[in-house]
Amino acid sequence: MSSRRPMIAANWKMNGLLADGRLLARAVSEAAASAAPLCFDVVVCPPATLTYAVGEILKGSSVLLGAQDCVAAPQGAFTGDLSAPMFADLGAKALILGHSERRHGHGETSVQVAEKVKAAQAAGLITIVCVGETAAELDAGCTKAVLTQQVRESVPENVDSSKLVIAYEPVWAIGTGRQPVPSDVVTAHQLIRSLLGPMGPTVRILYGGSVNAANVGSISCEKEVDGVLVGGASLKAESFWSIAESFQKRVCLAA
Ligand code: PGA
Repeated sequence: MSSRRPMIAANWKMNGLLADGRLLARAVSEAAASAAPLCFDVVVCPPATLTYAVGEILKGSSVLLGAQDCVAAPQGAFTGDLSAPMFADLGAKALILGHSERRHGHGETSVQVAEKVKAAQAAGLITIVCVGETAAELDAGCTKAVLTQQVRESVPENVDSSKLVIAYEPVWAIGTGRQPVPSDVVTAHQLIRSLLGPMGPTVRILYGGSVNAANVGSISCEKEVDGVLVGGASLKAESFWSIAESFQKRVCLAA
C-alpha cells in the first residue's frame, strides 16, 4: 500500500432535510465506530444547512465533517454566500471545491477555484479540488489538455500539499452510471500526479463519478486511486459504508 491514507468522501450535494440528514450522519458514524480502527479517512459533506446538525452528531466520531464550496472572501457583503471560516467555525475539516456542478452549472473558472483553495486552506481546511473532462472533451481527445489546464490553474502556488486532495471526476461519469475503465482512471491520476510536481507523490487523488458498492472493487485495488468521492451512493448509509469497506478490505488489509 502507498503511504497515502485513503479518503472516502460523501458529497450529499443539495440533498437532505434535518431529520434524514441526522439519521444518515448517525448511521455513518455508527458504522465507522463498529469498524474502528479505520485505516482511511471518512468525510461527510452535507449541504450547508445541515453543517451544524451533522457536526453535532459527528463530534467524537472518527468521521470528519466536510462542506461544499465557499466564496474566497472571509466575510463581507456577499448576500447568500458562505465563507471557509464559517464552515471551519462549525467544525468542518474539509471542503469540496471546483466541482463540475460549480464549474459548469455556475461558470466557475479554475482561477476562481484557486482563490477558494487559498481561502479554505487559510481557514485550516483540507481542500478537495475536483477536476475532470466533459463528454465532448473526452470525444475530442482533449482529456489530457483539460486536466492539465484545470490542475495548473486550480491549485494555487504555495499550496499546503498536506491539505490538498484532488478528485478526478469525469463530468460524463457523474450521476450517469457510466465510468471510465480502471486503466483510464489510472492514466488520469498519473497525469494529475505528475502535474503536481514534487508534491505529487504525497497528494491523495480520489476518483469520483457513479461510484457504488457494486463497481468500487474495480478501482479500489488500483494503488493510484487513493479513495473515492461519492455522490448518489453516499445518500444511503449501507451503500456508502460498503464502498468504504471495499477500501478497508482491498487497500488496508493488503498492507
Ligand atoms: P455521483 O456523484 O457519485 O452521484 O456520480 C459524484 C460527485 O459528483 O461527486
